[in-house]
Amino acid sequence: MSKTTGVAKKSGLSKDKNWWRQAAIYQIYPRSFADSNGDGIGDLQGIISRIPYLKSLSLDAVWLSPFYPSALADGGYDVDDYRDVDPKLGTLADFDQMLKELHKIGIRVFVDIVPNHSSNLHIWFKEAIAAAPGSKARSRYIFRDGRGINGELPPTDWVSHFAPSAWTHESKMGGKHNQWYMHWFAPEQPDFDWDNPEVEKEFLKTLKFWSDRGVDGFRIDVAHALKKDLSEPLRNLDVFEDLPERGNKGKGILADRDEVFKIYKGWRKLFDQYDPPRVAVAEANVHSNRLPLYASTKTLGQCFDFRFIDTPFEASAYKTNVQDALALAAKNKSSSTWTISNHDQIRHATKMGLNPAVDRRSWMLSNGTSHPLDMKSGSQNALAATLFLLALPGCTYMYQGEELGLHEVTDIPESQIQDPQYLKNNKIEKGRDGCRVPLPWTSSGSSFGFGSGGAHLPQPQWFADYSVEKEEKDPLSALSIYRKALELRKKLVTKEEIKWHKTNDLSVLHFSRPNGWHCITNFRAAAYPMPKGEILITSHPLVQGKIPAGTTVWFTKK
Ligand code: GLC
Ligand code: CA
Repeated sequence: MSKTTGVAKKSGLSKDKNWWRQAAIYQIYPRSFADSNGDGIGDLQGIISRIPYLKSLSLDAVWLSPFYPSALADGGYDVDDYRDVDPKLGTLADFDQMLKELHKIGIRVFVDIVPNHSSNLHIWFKEAIAAAPGSKARSRYIFRDGRGINGELPPTDWVSHFAPSAWTHESKMGGKHNQWYMHWFAPEQPDFDWDNPEVEKEFLKTLKFWSDRGVDGFRIDVAHALKKDLSEPLRNLDVFEDLPERGNKGKGILADRDEVFKIYKGWRKLFDQYDPPRVAVAEANVHSNRLPLYASTKTLGQCFDFRFIDTPFEASAYKTNVQDALALAAKNKSSSTWTISNHDQIRHATKMGLNPAVDRRSWMLSNGTSHPLDMKSGSQNALAATLFLLALPGCTYMYQGEELGLHEVTDIPESQIQDPQYLKNNKIEKGRDGCRVPLPWTSSGSSFGFGSGGAHLPQPQWFADYSVEKEEKDPLSALSIYRKALELRKKLVTKEEIKWHKTNDLSVLHFSRPNGWHCITNFRAAAYPMPKGEILITSHPLVQGKIPAGTTVWFTKK
């Protein structure tokens, strides 16, 4: 028997090529999950040490945010080397061990691919900066002469997500010539020129590298931005044309151009060479009409649908959004992706505990002091929302810590902020560190059990109340409910269909799945009578047999 057959036999994975369609997927932000060596930074051995915990969540897959070598100008989304592990996080051998152990218990692994830009420390960018204008090395990125008599002005008016201009003069990175390079994010994240076939080849090599190691899927960062209109002379931004909500019909200047799908068709060919085929999910901030193009079976196969991230916890908005999202996913034979939190967003428990009229950006800038936060009702609504989403047809992506009902950390002192969204953006956004604070595993001890040393972002005292240790002992905690719901869900998942049932209150939604799995959510109404049936789980206890506001119940009907 060959060695590979032996390995395959030991894995707990099925060969079902549709395993991803209704999967429960958990996002790990590796630097903040668990720290094995006490240096304050989460690492791969930390993840390995928490495999029993991941198992207790009955997950189908985990997605790891970047763990590649990086100087952390953007939390690891500035990649120095796409085919290695940051020495602070471990080694490739650690990665293989982690993958093998996760596979053994039936959990698949997604890695994050960041194809729009590398870091400024990537070997190609170092070569480009050292090389002359017009060189092969520079042609892998987007270098241009500036405007103005001496080229002292950026080539166009393009803006960056993190800094005012999307152009930085090469001298800032040690270049000796007079060109500018383009970066849609931080200056430490130079954009590749995807019109250069060498770039395309290099990424196919990276995807093959991880696929051959046994990685099951890829999350594609900023999947809409690879192709840009680089025809000369470069166009200034026509703001109207490029706004995603207006729909740019495949012809945007900086993003969502039709040519990008040619790249993904090439990736699909590679994915389909594996058994089961490798899968991918696109992060594409585009007009919703364009999402099916990224989620096509001929391209990436699945695409994040971010609409619930900003949906108020309210029945009519939830229902409309579900219907629209399902219709959209069906357009290209993909399945819906439900997600309410990730490493870029204010934690949803916090959003749901704030008065919806509050401007969250200024609230965050006030360190969460300008308006009161009702942590308890936020956590309760968050749990009700999660059970609602977990019962829908499709795939759910969850973010580490949401299973603890964790809130955003709003008061990180300025001196400890890491996020370029704050640091490079004239401090007009507090940034995303508040959802990236290392997890509380215990209620006391150094860094709440995250590791034996400190934590790379400060943890607040209230983390003690949200620790795994504490919640494990409480059958009504968020963690206990997540565990139970995810375990039940594994058995309940059925055909990707949904039927809505009439309720006597506009603030109550009730739907069922073809196998008699019912889900009812009371958003804001007075306690609502529980329909007949066998209760499987409640996100919050019933009150005298009725469903209180901010509660979801799963039940079955004979
Ligand atoms: C994606 C990531 C975000 C990162 C950005 C640039 O939006 O989710 O964290 O800052 O891309 O790579
Ligand atoms: Ca560590």
